Amino acid sequence: MTHILAIDQGTTSSRAILFDAGLQVVASAQEEFTQHYPRPGWVEHDPSDLWSTVAATARAAMERAGVKADRIAAIGITNQRETTLIWDRASGQPIHPAIVWQDRRTADTCTALKDAGHEPMITERTGLLLDPYFSATKVKWLLDHVEGARARAEAGELAFGTVDSWLIWNLTGGRVHATDATNAARTMLYNISTGQWDAEICALMGVPMALLPEVKDCAADFGVTRADLFGREIPILGVAGDQQAATVGQACFAPGMMKSTYGTGCFALLNTGADRVPSTHRLLTTIAYQLDGKPTYALEGSIFIAGAVVQWLRDGLKIIRHASETQGLAEAAEEAQGVVLVPAFTGLGAPYWRPECRGAVYGLTRNSGPAELARAALESVGYQTRDLLEAMRADWGAAADGVLRVDGGMSASDFAMQFLSDILGAPVDRPRVTETTALGAAYLAGLQAGLCDAPEAFAQGWALERRFEPKMDEATRDAKYARWGRAVQATMSV
Ligand code: G3P
Repeated sequence: MTHILAIDQGTTSSRAILFDAGLQVVASAQEEFTQHYPRPGWVEHDPSDLWSTVAATARAAMERAGVKADRIAAIGITNQRETTLIWDRASGQPIHPAIVWQDRRTADTCTALKDAGHEPMITERTGLLLDPYFSATKVKWLLDHVEGARARAEAGELAFGTVDSWLIWNLTGGRVHATDATNAARTMLYNISTGQWDAEICALMGVPMALLPEVKDCAADFGVTRADLFGREIPILGVAGDQQAATVGQACFAPGMMKSTYGTGCFALLNTGADRVPSTHRLLTTIAYQLDGKPTYALEGSIFIAGAVVQWLRDGLKIIRHASETQGLAEAAEEAQGVVLVPAFTGLGAPYWRPECRGAVYGLTRNSGPAELARAALESVGYQTRDLLEAMRADWGAAADGVLRVDGGMSASDFAMQFLSDILGAPVDRPRVTETTALGAAYLAGLQAGLCDAPEAFAQGWALERRFEPKMDEATRDAKYARWGRAVQATMSV
């Protein structure tokens, strides 16, 4: 058996990537699915879409490569994190659509919990802040709003899971209800120091512990797939949340190494090693990966809108037809106009955490047009990343050599990456393999299967495609970043 199948279930699409034993991509398949916005600020997924697109893309990738299940040693799963599902253990039927990580419906619950003084205790145990982003208040909402759900949960009839658990459940035909430490760390119900579900937080959120999955390492035995799915049982041997899988795929194994992934949102993780570093600058403390029962921690900065701002140019404003047009437009913009876009479409994430905030554009003139907006959109991603890295530096002075490894769709934009390097005043490294999320999941599964080498050896294989060096002079950088800071402050005060 020579292949590893990585399943990457993301916010807007599901992908399956088949790797060979040398971790080279052999074939892949991708399917988008419908986003549901039942009310302003609400975002839902149909759980059956998540599962059917995963099953279909996994089969499609295998067919494309002409590789049958008997040549696949293991499956690795990586997934959009925090998105919350509850289903019936007997029928496997979800009790409600999945509530997506971007969903803001529990903002009031978070405010009430904050006002009641619970945030310090929650942060101390989970490393997270009281924001609707995480699963706990979404679980509470489901139990409070779906008729009979709480009683059924207390009776042990229901199961909660993030997307990884939902996929494991379906892949194994309901035989395994499990998650990994990185996904558990995003629920706000898990104590990242003790490695246990936290009974006191569960009680505070009104979440019966009978709902919760078993928590395992990232490289572990998560059961085998139903034989009828792919023609043979395949073991599931690796699981990690997508940002953590990207950290592994980027080989950020040493304390001080950091990566930033530009998908729908942007998520920067800084490896802090075996030490759990508390943030005093509104970042999250999280588990980067857990191997052999030992967690490696990270500081994380999460921005909700990165690539999604380009989608907005395309689908909302309709000023481009393809994402790739953004770069040309941005280059044609009149820089002197200094248009600034604060893309707080679903609130502001780290380090501001203002779920109620909405987006704004500053500096418009009669000459401002699609080019200036495109430029402002790409620049907003650089500014937001700098906000995160400033906070990381303040929290953990040891922030390494200052090199940022990038991946994800938007990292393909030379304009966006050059601006990022300019505004950070630091090098930005783009690796040859930008499929780092899937690569991380495949590596974890391959490690458990005995096909892949230890992390140090895997890190040797990381190869640079291009390094972006800062070209902007310091005065311009400082002036531009200060203007961004004023724009964010103004946006938060509206
Ligand atoms: O925390 C949310 C994150 O995991 C979503 O990632 O790539 O689906 O936007 P992505």
